[in-house]
Amino acid sequence: ESASAIDLALFGALGDLSQRKLYPALYHLDREGLLDDDMRVLGLARQPLDAAAFRKEVEAALATHVKAAELERATLARFLARLDYRQLDFTTEEGFAAIREWRQEGAERPLVVYLAVGANLYGDICRHLEASGSLDEASRVVVEKPIGYDLDSSAEINDAIGGVFPESRIYRIDHYLGKETVQNLIALRFANPLFGTQWNQNHISHVEITVAEKVGIEGRWGYFDEAGQLRDMVQNHLLQLVCLIAMDPPANLDADAIRDEKVKVLKALKPFSEASLGRDVVRGQYIAGTIDGASVPGYLEEEGANRRSDTETFVAMKTEVANWRWAGVPFYIRTGKRLPEKLSQIVIHFRQQPHYIFDPDQRNLAANKLVIRLQPDEGIALEVLTKDSGLDKGMRLRRGPLHLDFNSAFPKTRIPDAYERLLLEVIKGRQYLFVRRDEVEHAWRWCDGLIEAWHDLGEAPRRYPAGSWGPVASIAMITQDGRSWYEDY
Ligand code: BG6
Repeated sequence: ESASAIDLALFGALGDLSQRKLYPALYHLDREGLLDDDMRVLGLARQPLDAAAFRKEVEAALATHVKAAELERATLARFLARLDYRQLDFTTEEGFAAIREWRQEGAERPLVVYLAVGANLYGDICRHLEASGSLDEASRVVVEKPIGYDLDSSAEINDAIGGVFPESRIYRIDHYLGKETVQNLIALRFANPLFGTQWNQNHISHVEITVAEKVGIEGRWGYFDEAGQLRDMVQNHLLQLVCLIAMDPPANLDADAIRDEKVKVLKALKPFSEASLGRDVVRGQYIAGTIDGASVPGYLEEEGANRRSDTETFVAMKTEVANWRWAGVPFYIRTGKRLPEKLSQIVIHFRQQPHYIFDPDQRNLAANKLVIRLQPDEGIALEVLTKDSGLDKGMRLRRGPLHLDFNSAFPKTRIPDAYERLLLEVIKGRQYLFVRRDEVEHAWRWCDGLIEAWHDLGEAPRRYPAGSWGPVASIAMITQDGRSWYEDY
């Protein structure tokens, strides 16, 4: 892939996201020869620094977040030479002329603006950029989640961005869409006739999605307590996974062809009723427990905690995409903090054969499962049944995986971080991995309904010890249907 020429203005240049994700991603793109020779990066933040001090900060971030073996002197020097810095107060227009001035030199290259700051600043920044004459016809803006807190606040933010940039130049990040295996969902479903033909309620009995994290709140209590796991993870990442699993085949790989299909899924998500809420949704909050042998505090004992908070750190639910393809197929989804493993995994459970001829006591074994592991250890396994070996076994069945582990099957290819892929797509001006406004809003609409129903119900979250798989009720939710969360891989 050839490099496209852009300049990048990065708001929040000293923030956590920039340091942990954006500089390492840009560095790797540079190392792969995917940045145009002339591309420049302007860091913008409140702190008074000069360019040299800023480069030092970035160098330190790279030393922490890039593997030593991948940090090459020459690439590092080339990358750091691209960087410049201006101190800027984002809330007043005054300083924004500095961006226009910085641009003079590379005026023929489109400006990409990356807002690695809170969404409350998006509107101001966009307006000041426009008023200061810093933008051009091709300027793009990249924004991070969370876009708002509910449908109304997200519409307000989208209006503010949309007042300056047309939708075709707004790149809303959901970093799960940049994960290699998430994109593989598209390849797997639409390039393999074997799966393509089976992908519906005739052949699939249920779908499981687990996004488990070991980490707790990581010093973000203030933000997290306002949001909770439903807004922080389900509204965006998990619903995007549901969309990619459930959508109809797009006519082609164009951004809007794909996003049109995703929106249809979001619109088809069954709302919860008062009756189904108690049965099909479990909210949890962790109490003190043990992770990897070490004791960790409960959510209410974290630093800065409001001890009476009933924000959820775990949610499990059984939902349905109510359309022709998926009617009657439960989607069991769960995500939580302080679970025993970091694991993101999708399991597609296929139905049994219409007629069964093996040992009756093995009947519950007899179906295929497709396991798609997003992280760690990206891979895909298809669980198949074969005959158990041994003379005395008769026709006993045995489960085993047909297993594609990306690291061992394709050992020479480094699996890029989500942000590398996403930044490259922004540079190239391709939108298919970014979230369109109507997707965000339909996802909010559905979550808002759920949150409102929770309020009406007024139940406190169920406690679960850190290091467990969540409240017992989340296990019961699936076992009452005669199923269980998938464990082995
Ligand atoms: C972020 C959430 O969007 O995703 C965090 O705000 C969460 O709370 C993170 O920890 C998980 O991302 P990943 O890539 O580590 O699965």
